[in-house]
Amino acid sequence: MEYTVKSGNPEKQRIGCVVIPVYASRKLSPSGRIIDKASNGYISNLIRRGEIEGDLGNCLLLHNVENTLCDRVLLIGCGKEKNIDVAAFYKINSHMVKRLQASGATEIASYLTEIPVKRKDINWKVQHSIEAIDETLYQFNQLKSEINETRRPLRKFIFSVNGRGQLMQGEKAVRQGMAISAGIHLAKDLGNMPGNICTPDYLAKQAEILSKHHKKVKTTVLEEKDMEKLGMGSLLSVSKGSREPAKLIILEYMAGDKNEDKQDDKNQQAPIVFVGKGVTFDSGGISLKPGAGMDEMKYDMCGAASVLGVISACAEMQLPVNIIGIIPAVENMPDGIASRPGDIVTSMSGQTIEILNTDAEGRLILCDALTYAEKFEPDVVIDIATLTGACIVALGAHPAGLLSNHNPLANDLLSAGQSSGDRCWQLPLWDDYQEQLKSNFADIANIGGKGAGTITAACFLSRFTKKYNWAHLDIAGVAWKTGTNKGATGRPVGLLTQYVLDRCNDC
Ligand code: BES
Ligand code: MN
Ligand code: ZN
Repeated sequence: MEYTVKSGNPEKQRIGCVVIPVYASRKLSPSGRIIDKASNGYISNLIRRGEIEGDLGNCLLLHNVENTLCDRVLLIGCGKEKNIDVAAFYKINSHMVKRLQASGATEIASYLTEIPVKRKDINWKVQHSIEAIDETLYQFNQLKSEINETRRPLRKFIFSVNGRGQLMQGEKAVRQGMAISAGIHLAKDLGNMPGNICTPDYLAKQAEILSKHHKKVKTTVLEEKDMEKLGMGSLLSVSKGSREPAKLIILEYMAGDKNEDKQDDKNQQAPIVFVGKGVTFDSGGISLKPGAGMDEMKYDMCGAASVLGVISACAEMQLPVNIIGIIPAVENMPDGIASRPGDIVTSMSGQTIEILNTDAEGRLILCDALTYAEKFEPDVVIDIATLTGACIVALGAHPAGLLSNHNPLANDLLSAGQSSGDRCWQLPLWDDYQEQLKSNFADIANIGGKGAGTITAACFLSRFTKKYNWAHLDIAGVAWKTGTNKGATGRPVGLLTQYVLDRCNDC
């Protein structure tokens, strides 16, 4: 879809459809009042007759409204003007798109930009409208042989802004919104791709494609023999049972301002490192998962997908930052040579790990990737992983779980979550929980027994992140939807790009 911004009165738009907000109860917005006046009270008459109340979800499509140049006017109910928060704004956009798709209009001028959303400015509204519209339009049809094409799809979407002053701002918001939305789209597509296609090698190829598209993104792929040399015995123990070779994918986007007063290779800002769990299918291994719903374990690489999505978004926005993406990519399968419960492996850090459950594989690949991250002398390291079913028990599908060894970093992520609407919620990483990881035979066990599964998983990772500021996002509950609307969400690309954007504004 093509997005643009424009200023001007609604009745003067020569276009397929003009979208106007109406508030509960029966209150017209400024653009609504203008169109009402032009049409000699036609709109307010309809409202008085009870044709639309203005509740969230209401809508009314009008044709050939007198003294307007547009083919249609769509009135969208927004609920009480004072109660419109981030979630309501998303719903309003989503209702609008569904109604427009059925209307036959292809070019739209939207005045939903005048909706007052609590503590949000015009930039935010434009950017998030784009995300909400693309979210509503998203379909994963690549693997269907027959697709029901919409006969007259939406083509062009114009956001109305107030006068010339807001035009520049609005255009920037459009660029940002489209970049973030494309990153979310990429993460969704990768997540939805089945395990027989989306293998570790496929993820590596996707990273290379991203590099081709953005000249500033450099991709390196380490093979199993490289990882053996590095001593990544923990990571390699997970892919042992699979015919698909493990890959360690490294993306470098180094566009940060140079530090002029420092010399040589040290003149770079310390990078933000994102580490994404890339288990392209998690059968559980020898600790095999039950059959019901096992297909959803194709989503066990959504952390990796979000890293690719964030880097794509930041490169597209040409943000002046240094970002490293590290993706340990493996498949977790049972086999005659697969790891067994009780096996002890040596991680790159030198710490030995007793694998008490081969289904706790995410932490086994992340720990080596986290040790590898040290070489980039990072400012912060954030890992993103569909790590524990326990996180769904604790928090459901609304926020991602957040655990961190550095409170300022945790606070930055919490606040980026608030402002993007892609939220996370902090859980404690107290030492008290570390005891659960004691092993009789190795330095550490890979499971923590009963209770606090999300926290003990993070405690495991914390043993490998002592040298830098680190945060862990458990996205088991938010990365995809189950049930009839099964599909990847692209989360937490919105949260993480917001985090990077906030840091750019500070510097
Ligand atoms: N990928 C799963 C976590 C998961 C399960 C995410 C279901 C979303 C939905 C992870 O590898 C796993 O299997 N974790 C185990 C850990 C346990 C063995 C300590 C779990 O959560 O059951
Ligand atoms: Mn598992
Ligand atoms: Zn897993």
